[in-house]
Amino acid sequence: MRTRRAALAVTAVSLVLSLAACGQSSEGGSKDDGKKGGDSTVGIAMPTKSSERWIADGANIEAQFKKLGYKTNLQFGENVVAQQVNQIENMITKGVDVLVIAAIDGRALSDVLQQAADKNIKVIAYDRLILGTKNVDYYASFDNEKVGVLQATYLVEKLGLADGKKGPFNIELFAGSPDDNNTRYFFDGAMKTLQPYIDKKQLVVQSGQTKLEQVTTQGWDGGTAQKRMDNLITGSYSSKNVDAVLSPYDGISIGILSALKSGGYGTASKPYPLVTGQDAEVASVKSIIAGRQTMTVYKDTRALAQQAVQMADAVLKDKKPEVNDEKTYDNEIKVVPAYLLNPVSVDKTNYEKELVDSGYLKASDLK
Ligand code: GAL
Repeated sequence: MRTRRAALAVTAVSLVLSLAACGQSSEGGSKDDGKKGGDSTVGIAMPTKSSERWIADGANIEAQFKKLGYKTNLQFGENVVAQQVNQIENMITKGVDVLVIAAIDGRALSDVLQQAADKNIKVIAYDRLILGTKNVDYYASFDNEKVGVLQATYLVEKLGLADGKKGPFNIELFAGSPDDNNTRYFFDGAMKTLQPYIDKKQLVVQSGQTKLEQVTTQGWDGGTAQKRMDNLITGSYSSKNVDAVLSPYDGISIGILSALKSGGYGTASKPYPLVTGQDAEVASVKSIIAGRQTMTVYKDTRALAQQAVQMADAVLKDKKPEVNDEKTYDNEIKVVPAYLLNPVSVDKTNYEKELVDSGYLKASDLK
């Protein structure tokens, strides 16, 4: 977090200018914007501190609200659903005016959000859609399907599949946590892109595990992914090499790469397969620079925080928040109006421009 704050502090130009200023300010409101949060308090529920992105998200959201004069109550679950529900209940009891929630389990919040609605507390779903309740007002996220498309397109291009002849290459597929609504968007986007090549047998999934429910990773846990990759190597690759792994998230990629290393990959005669990722976490960007992980999908959490703050600020002032998608995110009760940001494919060739020059990461942290 210190890294990102420091990185934010040195960002002087570009569209992140105002965000950066917010990111480094951790207390007090701005003096002259004429639209202070007054006595309003924002409850911010983040899923976990086990991944640096969520720590940065929490810090960015909090700092930006404070800049507008709001009080904040920021809580992290430990990827434990009941803990997050308790934290949100406590926020409601203490009297927050609006909630910004990145759900651990998108389906587990109906009761607690009914309590919020009973007190007229509006709810912004942050990054992950909250499902099965009418009591979610807006959604700030990225184009989640595009994340999967970027990961898969990268593999298709690097393997040179588009000519219709190359291959067959062996690929294995991983998806995120089954309780996170984003998981199926990432996977569907990727599979839409990969399926034609699987059909043409340019790509072969030796394990045969191609259905979402066969490839999910509970809790986005790297250790769980590592075990599954160990099993795949033992079960399907004793006499073959894996050429590519679709991984939805950097923490999962790290587990996959550990299993590959134990399986003898990472040598001149048996190089690592292509391994995708998401979030541009420091450990994975270092891995990319070192030639292990191949790519990641960068999602600027500063910009996401800004959207969520904009939404909450607007609803509290009885204004309509800016949205750019009113059709994609059906939470099974209603279509939740969303603002979707653009994810960016990052590898060794453009990480400096995208991540360092933008101030998202510090060059010194990638050494
Ligand atoms: C998803 C999020 C990803 C990644 C993952 C694991 O909901 O969209 O960017 O962070 O959770 O934390």
